[in-house]
Amino acid sequence: MAMRLEEDRFLLGVCYYPEQWNETMWDDDFRRMREMNFSVVRMAEFAWSIFEPEEGSFRFGLFDRAMDAAHRHGLKVILGTPTATPPAWLTAKYPEVLNVTFEGVVLQHGLRRHYNYSSPKYRELCSRITREMALHYKDHPAVIGWQIDNEFNCEISEFYSEADHLAFRSWLQEKYGSLDRLNEAWGAVFWNQTYSGWEQVHLTRPTPSPRQPNPHQLLDEKRFISDNAISFAKVQADILRELAPKQFVTTNGLFGHLDSHRMTDELLDFFSYDSYPQFSTITEREQEESPLLDRSWSLNLSAVRSISPNFCVMEQQSGPGGWVNRMDMPSPKPGQMRLWTYQSIAHGADMLLYFRWRTAVFGNEIYWHGINDYHNRPNRRVREAAQVGEELSRVGKRFLGSRFQAEIAIVRDYENEWDGEYDVWHGPFGWESGTAWFKALTRRHLPSDVLYLRETTRLDDLRRYRMLVYPHPAIMRRETAELLEQYVAEGGVVIFGCRTGYKDERGHCYMEPFPGKAAKLCGISVEEFTMVKGTRAPTFLTWNGDPGSRIPALRFNDVLAVESDTAEVMAVYASDYYAGKPAVTRNRFGAGEAWYYGAVFHEQAAARIIELLGLRSPANGWMKLPESVELAIRGSAEANGNDSDGRPGAPATAFLLNYEEKPAKLTFLRPTEELLSGQVLQGEVELEGFGVLLLRSPEDGE
Ligand code: GAL
Repeated sequence: MAMRLEEDRFLLGVCYYPEQWNETMWDDDFRRMREMNFSVVRMAEFAWSIFEPEEGSFRFGLFDRAMDAAHRHGLKVILGTPTATPPAWLTAKYPEVLNVTFEGVVLQHGLRRHYNYSSPKYRELCSRITREMALHYKDHPAVIGWQIDNEFNCEISEFYSEADHLAFRSWLQEKYGSLDRLNEAWGAVFWNQTYSGWEQVHLTRPTPSPRQPNPHQLLDEKRFISDNAISFAKVQADILRELAPKQFVTTNGLFGHLDSHRMTDELLDFFSYDSYPQFSTITEREQEESPLLDRSWSLNLSAVRSISPNFCVMEQQSGPGGWVNRMDMPSPKPGQMRLWTYQSIAHGADMLLYFRWRTAVFGNEIYWHGINDYHNRPNRRVREAAQVGEELSRVGKRFLGSRFQAEIAIVRDYENEWDGEYDVWHGPFGWESGTAWFKALTRRHLPSDVLYLRETTRLDDLRRYRMLVYPHPAIMRRETAELLEQYVAEGGVVIFGCRTGYKDERGHCYMEPFPGKAAKLCGISVEEFTMVKGTRAPTFLTWNGDPGSRIPALRFNDVLAVESDTAEVMAVYASDYYAGKPAVTRNRFGAGEAWYYGAVFHEQAAARIIELLGLRSPANGWMKLPESVELAIRGSAEANGNDSDGRPGAPATAFLLNYEEKPAKLTFLRPTEELLSGQVLQGEVELEGFGVLLLRSPEDGE
């Protein structure tokens, strides 16, 4: 849904915890926020014990005073329901609400998110606190919306309490109807796992070889966790819709084992994301060859945009992050916070709040820095946020409702993501190939979307794109293959990698030549296949007619055989006993084409395909950009120039984002107006380190 919050301004703000500070500080805090052009605060998402200090007795005084003060200063408020942190009295009295690990350890009070989604008692108590808060604040003039809970499935995305086992059983009864069907779906005849009574059926449990449960059961377990989280959220969403219909409902993510698309479609006005690009400096991505680091957050933001084309960044990193004993991140350098803010906006954020106003002086997050330091005196982060506030007060309105423009999508789906967490014969490849493609595209200034294929995906959703890259969809339903066939027949291009199409939705292998349901579209079969690892020497492939074009055929090799007259061999293996056999093929199918790349993608491979397809950046003929600068364009949501709600489209804006510390050299081939400075850029221009330019795009008719 289009997220037009306010017609006339971009809402910028901050997360604020009045309960953590002396009340005498609030007025000054809110006053300074307004001076920085902030207009919105989020509060209350962890404050259950303030609202309900003992069971059934409710107190609103502290938040009434805080929200009234915010309102006096002209700030809007987003209220969090506090269900991510059940009070101590609650878990002590009703221990059945607690989550339990796979190994059976009960997770106790002391951190957060230690509850399970299945406990009827917890659902009842969550309904009550949500109802009380909604009744109390539905008419508060500052409140514009609600955030349900906080970060579903963060910290832990597995649930093994007694209530979860019971709920899983009911979920399976609903799904399969009979034990025979369940046994068949789980291949239970293998290793004598057949069930003869429902009471024998559980979520996966410890087995002799650690964490090696039945794969089909585990795939259903992930589906169940997702459905269960959504049904938990629905309880609150329904109450808020009923009691506070004028206020929006959202929640923040994005975490595993949760179909955030379905949750958003069914329950929310829009999705919200918590963006901490500095995680890219402390994860394994650091080990990658030529890592994108904070720029890789653009891929995450693209996934968020696939949920809500326009979204809220509920928490934007505003300082070094760190818990007491982990996530010890470097401080953002001058300019980086501002860069990340525009990164979020370039990718579709229509509202953005920094996390958090001031660094906490106690608790696990004493090193998760806010804009203000402990000493609360002006610092460079405050100045940088104020600069953003000033800029957005001038130009922010222009972005509202406009949509990120992309002709290419990297395709994903939940089934393969969840199955691939366990199945190492395809799972790790998906991430690697998706990232390789994203790198190859973004470095060539070819903006791309992420598209999740779902049961609700229609041909129209695909028609937006000239090309889809669906790297390793091991699980492919017949309906998905048929949809892709229609898309390609009309002129679309689909690119697959190895391991495509060989499993059904239960995770059983099809008794058909690979790539199974995608074989017709690709016009090939897979003659044989192998992992390339261990004692197997690395293998290579060579593009047709170009012996100097040898590149690695990474990790897994599908040896292909052409099955259709319309299929053409684009590259052959150049090593091992299958040297000379097809490695990459292209099949003309109707007006479009389907490519099959027999290995795992890397950046060089993606770059070659981009070149062969002749893809051109929107920068072409307009400006010359170095690889270090990202190009993103926001424009009309619909091809007819309108936004998705039918109103006239927002003006187009191109964002140039320099992720490097050193200045970037750009060349403008046409005079172009920069919106923040009002200057017209032409010829050679230097973009400062971590700098941002907002350009009036040539499509902008204004
Ligand atoms: C988010 C969370 C916040 C805060 C922040 C920094 O995941 O929603 O409450 O914990 O990270 O760790």
